[in-house]
Amino acid sequence: MSDKKLEDAVPDVPRHVLRDGTKIPQLGLGTYPMDDAEAEALIPEALWRGYRLVDTAVNYGNELGVGRGIKASEITRDEIFLTTKLPGRDHGTDSVRRSLEGSLERLGTDYVDLYLIHWPNPGVDRYVETWQTMIELRDQGLVRSIGVSNFLPEHLLRLERETGEMPVINQVELHPQYQQELLREFHAEHKIVTEAWSPLGRKTDILQHEWIADIARKVGRTPAQVMLRWHIQSNILPIPKTSNVTRMAENLDVFDWDLTDEQMKRMKMLHTGLSGSGFDPREHEEL
Ligand SMILES: NC(=O)c1ccc[n+]([C@@H]2O[C@H](COP(=O)([O-])OP(=O)(O)OC[C@H]3O[C@@H](n4cnc5c(N)ncnc54)[C@H](OP(=O)(O)O)[C@@H]3O)[C@@H](O)[C@H]2O)c1
Repeated sequence: MSDKKLEDAVPDVPRHVLRDGTKIPQLGLGTYPMDDAEAEALIPEALWRGYRLVDTAVNYGNELGVGRGIKASEITRDEIFLTTKLPGRDHGTDSVRRSLEGSLERLGTDYVDLYLIHWPNPGVDRYVETWQTMIELRDQGLVRSIGVSNFLPEHLLRLERETGEMPVINQVELHPQYQQELLREFHAEHKIVTEAWSPLGRKTDILQHEWIADIARKVGRTPAQVMLRWHIQSNILPIPKTSNVTRMAENLDVFDWDLTDEQMKRMKMLHTGLSGSGFDPREHEEL
């Protein structure tokens, strides 16, 4: 099939509406740990298969490749929802703008759709002034929406208290083994969309769990699709990473079928509270 035909054959991904009115696809492509060359080759493949949300970060070292891949796809920029993240070393009023300008240059674009603070780095304690600057950059049009990643309620409440504004998204580790129920309730109360990193539980064995295999057999899908469908039905936005084009299509094919209430209950019971990364945002410092 030609690339153009591939594009015509894929259905639109449904969207969430963020609190600021922006629409974001309900599933996206993760890009860590692709390097520039891999990202440049794979981003067009993903876009031609229907992906419209691409997740990168300064610290992935692949913004150049992501930007080149978007251009090579020949899909217009305004059809694509592009996320990047500010690294810990660039927290602080003066450095945020400089850091964003570097990202925009590498990505070959004049705005990003979503700009996230990658980690709160509470030991550095500059995430509030960083957030205040991001509000200004958003108001100047350099980014469409602003959010955070790996923030706890205590960090989110402090942002609201000191700047008057909460993020529209918090991207956190989340999969059936680590369901983050309390955080999700907090997000729902504050109209924050929950975005899941490691949605397939990378660094855990959850994708091999026999209950998931059993549900997959019953619904005639793969274990990865069952996990991603669980995210969608739980109102969580997953960004699975794959470098395999067959899996790209597989992971996106989760919108026209359902898990039953019984199957969703079974998935809920897979929660153990064990994070795959073991990173605690209260202590983890990522610069
Ligand atoms: N904000 C943060 O702090 C943070 C932290 C970590 C990650 N992230 C973001 O979240 C994205 C996703 O998280 P992640 O990469 O950690 O984990 P993930 O998406 O849960 O898992 C990725 C792994 O699953 C494999 N995989 C993908 N589709 C599959 C399928 N259908 N069947 C079997 N295996 C499959 C991939 O291998 P193949 O590539 O070989 O298919 C890869 O090894 C990252 O790429 C990154 O963009 C953000």
